[in-house]
Amino acid sequence: LLTGTAELTVAGALPERTTAARRADNTLTRIASRAATATALGDGLTALISGLTVAAAAVVGVQAVADGRLEGVALAVVVLTPLAAFEAVLGMPLAVQYRQRVRKSAERVLDVLDAPVPVREPEQPRQAPASPFPLVVRDLSARYAGQDRDALSGLDLTLEQGRRIAVVGPSGSGKTTLAQVLLRFLDARAGGYTLAGVDAYALDGDDVRRLVGLCAQDAHLFDSSLRENLLLAKRDATEEELRDALGRARLLEWTRSLPDGLDTLVGEHGARLSGGQRQRLALARALLADFPVLVLDEPAEHLDLPTGDALTADLLAATEGRTTLLITHRLAGLEAVDEVIVLDEGRVVQRGPYAELAGADGPLRGMVRQEAEADLLVGAR
Ligand SMILES: Nc1ncnc2c1ncn2[C@@H]1O[C@H](COP(=O)(O)OP(=O)(O)O)[C@@H](O)[C@H]1O
Ligand SMILES: [Mg+2]
Repeated sequence: LLTGTAELTVAGALPERTTAARRADNTLTRIASRAATATALGDGLTALISGLTVAAAAVVGVQAVADGRLEGVALAVVVLTPLAAFEAVLGMPLAVQYRQRVRKSAERVLDVLDAPVPVREPEQPRQAPASPFPLVVRDLSARYAGQDRDALSGLDLTLEQGRRIAVVGPSGSGKTTLAQVLLRFLDARAGGYTLAGVDAYALDGDDVRRLVGLCAQDAHLFDSSLRENLLLAKRDATEEELRDALGRARLLEWTRSLPDGLDTLVGEHGARLSGGQRQRLALARALLADFPVLVLDEPAEHLDLPTGDALTADLLAATEGRTTLLITHRLAGLEAVDEVIVLDEGRVVQRGPYAELAGADGPLRGMVRQEAEADLLVGAR
């Protein structure tokens, strides 16, 4: 609500959201007040009972001393023992409260632990190949749980070492789904893929993800320094390696200009960086990880067109000679890749080298035309 105040004000949705927040706050206050009442009652009752017990012990003790049945010194023991005994149960009301709270937390944790595993893992994973080449996708179809149509169907592709393939297509055509399947975040419904001839589903998912890496559409940046965000990819990276990755993502000049350099904090979700810098940092991290196969999912998606095209150009330069699957909905720069696959509604509708597709009548030609019109509108070209 706080970070989105500007948008909510513009959309006129602020009063409604504020009311909802206020309602939630009231509920929270009620819960807190109920908990406080319980604590107070518990504490009060304990104090009352222990007070009464001590008083009663004192009365009985004093009488005993007066009657000569008890020595004066022993009176202290009689009066103080109940006090000491109550100290042992003083924590009980609090313990009851904690018990309830922990049980609720445990329920939530167990919900997660009991949830069905979304992807199947082999019972006895095979040894991962040292190198994943060639990565061959055969007749791959995938569907999300609860959906009645495939998000991706009948896809074939082969990534030899050093080959770069671009996957293009309108929003919702199945591009991200392909990345999800290749990283084993989603199971294939039919078909599958092999790494150096080994069925990917016979391998441990983590082993697959060491061979196939992803720079996701919305790569997460941690609320920490530039350096820490990079080191996630490679714990023991040297200063030299960090600089190299930043250089290839074209961030080096900028980081050098910062007073704190690599120790500059990026803010929550990278809020202190521009959109382009965020994506470049995510790219630098992916390059640093040095995956044998790198999947880039719409790295330029949230950027304005000139910034996005500049990023695409730089990443195509940075991935030259590296096996890459570039997912994008922009066509700028794709002359550089070996093959372009055009998806529509989960199916391959056209494939081949960019120049060939752009020269032929077909879906890509249509996309080129649309893109040129869009560029004219925003004055990108
Ligand atoms: N988690 C999901 N659950 C159900 N359907 C999904 C999910 N993610 C994507 N889809 C559907 O799968 C299709 C392909 O989506 P996606 O691969 O994300 O497309 P793209 O990345 O090309 O925009 C779309 O119809 C989309 O609505
Ligand atoms: Mg997508």
